[in-house]
Amino acid sequence: MSMMKAAMVESFDEPPHLRSVPVPRPHSGKELVDVLAVGISHATRGAAAGKHYTSPKSLPALAGIDAVVRRKNGDLAFVMSPGTGSLAERILVDPKDLVPVPRGADPAVVAATMNAALSSWVALKARVHFEPGQSVLVIGATGNAGSSGVRVAKHLGAARVVAAGRNRERLDGLLAEGADELVPLTSDEAATAVAYATAAAEIDVVLDYVWGPPAEQAMQAILSARTEHTRILDWVQVGGTGGMSITLGGNALRHNALRISGSGFGSVIMEDADLPGLSAALASGLVGVRPHIVPLADVEKAWAHVDRPGERTVIVP
Ligand SMILES: NC(=O)c1ccc[n+]([C@@H]2O[C@H](COP(=O)([O-])OP(=O)(O)OC[C@H]3O[C@@H](n4cnc5c(N)ncnc54)[C@H](OP(=O)(O)O)[C@@H]3O)[C@@H](O)[C@H]2O)c1
Repeated sequence: MSMMKAAMVESFDEPPHLRSVPVPRPHSGKELVDVLAVGISHATRGAAAGKHYTSPKSLPALAGIDAVVRRKNGDLAFVMSPGTGSLAERILVDPKDLVPVPRGADPAVVAATMNAALSSWVALKARVHFEPGQSVLVIGATGNAGSSGVRVAKHLGAARVVAAGRNRERLDGLLAEGADELVPLTSDEAATAVAYATAAAEIDVVLDYVWGPPAEQAMQAILSARTEHTRILDWVQVGGTGGMSITLGGNALRHNALRISGSGFGSVIMEDADLPGLSAALASGLVGVRPHIVPLADVEKAWAHVDRPGERTVIVP
């Protein structure tokens, strides 16, 4: 039996460990592919810690939920599927799940950028009826996913992109990356509310990476200032760095055409999301997340590394 290296989750309280496991045997139309690069996103970390809705139901389990891979014919592709166990030298994939990656693309760059950019791309393409010319507010715009959201929204034709975030230096930098207006999130709640009211009262789509109390504050400020109450406001919950729950009064829903949805594994029909289009855009540099490359042999060190702003750990077998 031929063996390979893989990162195994044995306890939700420990990082994945490097182990030798059998190379999977192709069956039922599945293809054995070489893994080239795996981005260590919040979802990947959360799944390996038992804290994400895609976490394995039993242990031990292979870590990793997506990867850039090379097929038998040499083509590059991206695959995303919880349960894939992508942190391994080779994985079995269903060819219909593969998103083509242009030849010549840097696998580490695609791995670093895909999860971040996919969140806004998929939300705008497949979760709301976003039309070029509409306006988009990104809350949590200073993170990898949020800053990618600014670029993606502009790339998909947003007429106006408003970026809200805490890190002032990073926020200011977004003006050069597609943001038209900024909402600095500070501990001064009144000033934050005024900034939301000024920049985003009539916004069409909100991509919310923060949720929790900061989202409650943003909703309150925007809905209070809104004048066109029947104009659809699509609020998409994409991340939860500020908390996983909100309290929302029924009046807010009755008084405004507010539609709340979420975007992630399970809520999206990926065929609707034009992922090959995203892959091509990333390969040509749409998003600026830098890979911090760590070999698979050092997977435990990779888990201990804290990504700097604009950086994403990428494991290469
Ligand atoms: N659904 C999807 O498809 C999808 C895909 C990718 C990511 N996500 C989710 O999106 C979120 C962000 O991911 P990421 O990759 O961008 O993470 P990241 O690069 O680590 O950035 C985290 C961001 O959250 C901000 N933040 C944290 N707490 C905050 C608070 N209380 N108020 C305002 N901002 C706060 C941070 O601001 P500071 O810099 O000021 O600390 C930072 O900008 C995560 O929850 C992730 O799981 C979802």
